[in-house]
This record gives sequence, C-alpha cells and structure tokens, in this order.
Amino acid sequence: MTTTTIAHPEYNYKVVKQFALTTVLWGIIGMAVGVLIAAQLIWPALNFDTPWLTFSRLRPLHTNAVIFAFGTSALFATSYYVVQRTCKVRLISDKIAAFTFWGWQAIIISAVITLPLGISTAKEYAELEWPIDILITIVWVAYAYVFIGTIAIRKTSHIYVANWFYAGFIITVAVLHLVNSAAIPVTLFKSYSIYSGAVDAMIQWWYGHNAVGFLLTAGFLGMMYYFVPKQAERPVYSYRLSVVHFWALVSLYIWAGPHHLHYTALPDWTQSLGMVMSVILFIPSWGGMINGIMTLSGAWHKLRTDPVLRFLIVSLSFYGMSTFEGPMMAIKSVNALSHYTDWTVGHVHSGALGWVAMVSIGALYHLIPRLYGKTQMADLKLVNTHFWLHTVGVVFYIVSMWISGVMQGLMWRAVNSDGTLTYSFVQSLEASYPFYFVRFLGGVFVVAGMLVMGYNVYKTVRGDKQVAAGQTQAA
Ligand code: HEM
Ligand code: HEM
Repeated sequence: MTTTTIAHPEYNYKVVKQFALTTVLWGIIGMAVGVLIAAQLIWPALNFDTPWLTFSRLRPLHTNAVIFAFGTSALFATSYYVVQRTCKVRLISDKIAAFTFWGWQAIIISAVITLPLGISTAKEYAELEWPIDILITIVWVAYAYVFIGTIAIRKTSHIYVANWFYAGFIITVAVLHLVNSAAIPVTLFKSYSIYSGAVDAMIQWWYGHNAVGFLLTAGFLGMMYYFVPKQAERPVYSYRLSVVHFWALVSLYIWAGPHHLHYTALPDWTQSLGMVMSVILFIPSWGGMINGIMTLSGAWHKLRTDPVLRFLIVSLSFYGMSTFEGPMMAIKSVNALSHYTDWTVGHVHSGALGWVAMVSIGALYHLIPRLYGKTQMADLKLVNTHFWLHTVGVVFYIVSMWISGVMQGLMWRAVNSDGTLTYSFVQSLEASYPFYFVRFLGGVFVVAGMLVMGYNVYKTVRGDKQVAAGQTQAA
C-alpha cells in the first residue's frame, strides 16, 4: 500500500482547488443546457420564441460549456495537481498559474455571453470570435509555460507517463487552435476564415477530430494514468505499454480527421487515408484501455466497495466502447448509414458522458477530499448514488440514440420498387420522438447526479473532518 502526505505545504493547491470546484459548477451548467436542448428537440416551444433561447444558439453553448468549461477545467485541475506530485516540485509560477485560472474563466464567460447572442464563426467547436481566440492563445501559452516549465524544474529524474499525455494535449491543442482559427477580422465581432471551400472543411475537421483526440482523449488518458493507479493502490499494469500507447496514439490520431468528411468534395484518397488510419487507431486505444483496466489485477474486489474506483473503471469501459465504435463508423460503407443520423450523437456521448465525464468525476472524487485535508468525500453513499444515476443516464442516452440513428439511416435510404423514397424526412423525424424522450430522461438522470455531486462537494469542503497536517493516509 502506498502512502502519501495529504497537506503538502510546498505545492500550489490553490489553483487546483479553484479549477476543481469550477469543474463541478460548469459541469452542472453545461449538462443542464444539454437537457434543455434535448427537451427542445421534443417540445420546440421551449425556445419561447426568444432568439437567444433557440436550439441553434444553445447547442454551441452546450458543446463549448461541456468541452471547454467542464472538461478543460478538469484537465487544468488534474494536470496542475499531477505535475506537482509526480515531479515533486511546486508549480513554476503561482502568478501565471492564477492568470490561467482567471483568464480561462473570462473566456468561458465571454462564450456564455456571445454564443446566445448569435456571435459565432460557425466552425464547430471553434465558434468563438477572434478577440476571444486571441485571449485563448495567450492563456494557453501561459498554461504551457506553467506545465512544461514545472516539468523542466522537476526534482525527479523521470517524467511520469501521465505528464507525457498532458503535455501532448497542451502542445497539440495550441497548434490546432492557431491553425484552424486563422481568420481575417472585419468588425469586432465578425471574422472570416482564411481558408475556403474543401480546404476549409479539411482544416476544420483536422482540428475537430484532433480536439477529440488530444483534448477529449490524450488529456483524459493522462488523468487515467495517475488516478486509476492511485485509487486502486496498484502500479500501472504495464509501464512499457503506457509509453508505447502514448507514441502510437499521438502519431496515429493526427491522420484520421477526413473520416468526418466521407463522400464530400474532399479528394477521395484523403477519405480513404482517414478511414485506414482510424481503423488502425483501434489498436493503441484498446491497448491503453486494457492497460488501465488491468491495473486492477489482484484488486478487483475493490470495485464492490469503492464507488470512486467504479467511476474510473466504468469510464474506461466506455472509452473502449467508443473507440471500437469510432473506427467502425469511419469505414466508408458504415458511415454511409451513420452520417447525419443520431448514431453519431450516440457515439459522441458514449465518449463524452461515458468516458470524459466519468473519468473526470472519478478523479475529482479522489482529488477534492485530499485538497481539503479530508480522507474521503463527506458522503460515500452519495458517490454511489451519483454513480448509478450517471450510469443509467448514459445508457438511456446512448442506447436511444443508437436505435434512432440506425432507424433514421435505414428510413432515409429505403426506396420503393419505382425508385421513389419510401419515407419522407418528416416521417423519420416523427419516428425519432420516443427516442428523443428517452435521451431527455437520460440527461435528467445525469444532471440529477451532478447536483448530488455538487451537494457532496459542498459538504466535503465545508466539513470539519480535518486530518492533521503531515498525517499520512492510503492515497
Ligand atoms: C446531461 C448530459 C447531456 C445531455 C442531455 C446532452 C445533450 C445533447 C444534445 C441534445 C445535443 C444535440 C444533438 C443534436 O444536435 O441532435 C448534444 C450535442 C453534443 N454534446 Fe451533449 N449532452 C450532455 C452531455 C455532454 C457532455 C458531458 C459532453 C462532453 C464532454 C457533450 C458533448 C456534446 C457534443 C460534442 C455534441 C455535438 C455532437 C455532434 O455534433 O454530433 N455532451 N448534447
Ligand atoms: C479510435 C477512436 C475514434 C474514432 C476512429 C472515431 C471516429 C469517429 C467517426 C467516424 C465519427 C463520425 C463522423 C461523421 O460521420 O460525421 C466520429 C464523430 C465524433 N466522435 Fe469519434 N471516434 C473515436 C473516438 C471518440 C472519442 C473517445 C470521443 C469522445 C470523447 C469521440 C468524439 C466524437 C465527436 C465529438 C464526434 C462528432 C463530431 C461532429 O460531427 O460534430 N470520438 N468519430
């Protein structure tokens, strides 16, 4: 059993606490907006004829809030914690770390204001207009300085593998953002991309896919490589595999973007290349998942009693599921059925709600009590309640979207013997309603779980079960 000191005076935990608490807050808000837009797809009147409440404006608000406010705050919090603990040194600069926190909050608030106002570049996951893009660049360079600078002054000879994943994510996201956001401003709130036509599409999905690959995957794998062994109190199953996993993942992901543009004006060979690289990507993805899950070898019994570990391990199962499904959907003939349908939305959320949200929630349940000098969350039963609410919610969401997606694909391609379409688009929409309702219910479960988490975090932070400074515990 490994033991660690809980309150380490040498580390900067202030910024970690700030990002950890805002992760919970933005998670509740971002997912609640998800529930609202899920409801609007069933009851369109819920936009109250108000422009800033329309689906088209709230959808990007949802995606930005969950990816960049919830997910990225979780990455900031955990990366700052992990880099200090594994390099055994305080962050290189407290002031610049604080700047990244306040700068990132300013970016989120700008998004919360501009997106409902309809101010948008219309590039998915890169909707924010150029002044905000510049702020993102400045904050991101500061983040890279704090993270990589801390590694540079480390007191250990080795750089633990989690830091490789975090650093890979930070550097790649910088490059993606700079290239994809290149634009010519015409007013303070309007700019035009410097790319056009098929090139614009290709750059956009090189960005979009690698935002998935490096932000929603590599960063969270960094989280997995630290928090799964810690919570399981076992070393990583195979350290060698983790290093192979890192290099294989970063060298393959970058090629797969064209699978978002099958059967478009993109040159055919790029589509085929994207397809082949996506199928190969299955191997490192599953290598990493197996490495994470097998870390539990000899400690499987802990899953029965430890709901935090359950969050972490089930997140890996969803990671495995979405990285099996993704390569399959990248095959052109499968994509011909899945593209434009809810199958894609189901895939997205098995990755986003199953993998990204669950690994973050598990990591936060490990992290928050330790940051506040507690041995565990104030109420472990509530962690268990959250686990079940979330798991049932995700299953409702993704199963309903799979069924509705495959049904839509089949209805759209059905033809009568005279060559006319069997179903109109509206018929396929009507057939989707029951599944939209199940998705909505799933979302309500997930948000209920997040509210339970918020309450438990509040109790933990405010609680008085202080552990004396310097006292050690299993961690
Ligand atoms: C309560 C939980 C959630 C609900 C109810 C929800 C609901 C929705 C809905 C209704 C859409 C629009 C689908 C469409 O246009 O047909 C959507 C899109 C999306 N959501 Fe969520 N969501 C939730 C959580 C999350 C989380 C945690 C993430 C990421 C970490 C996420 C990432 C996305 C993305 C990337 C899209 C765009 C999908 C695409 O373009 O195919 N969502 N969500
Ligand atoms: C080996 C890994 C993966 C591969 C090869 C893959 C492949 C794909 C494919 C083929 C699509 C559909 C493109 C389309 O028809 O428009 C897609 C969409 C998407 N995937 Fe994955 N996927 C993988 C893993 C993941 C994971 C782990 C996540 C989330 C954490 C994720 C998030 C998304 C998102 C957000 C979209 C929707 C993009 C959009 O249209 O807005 N993927 N993916």
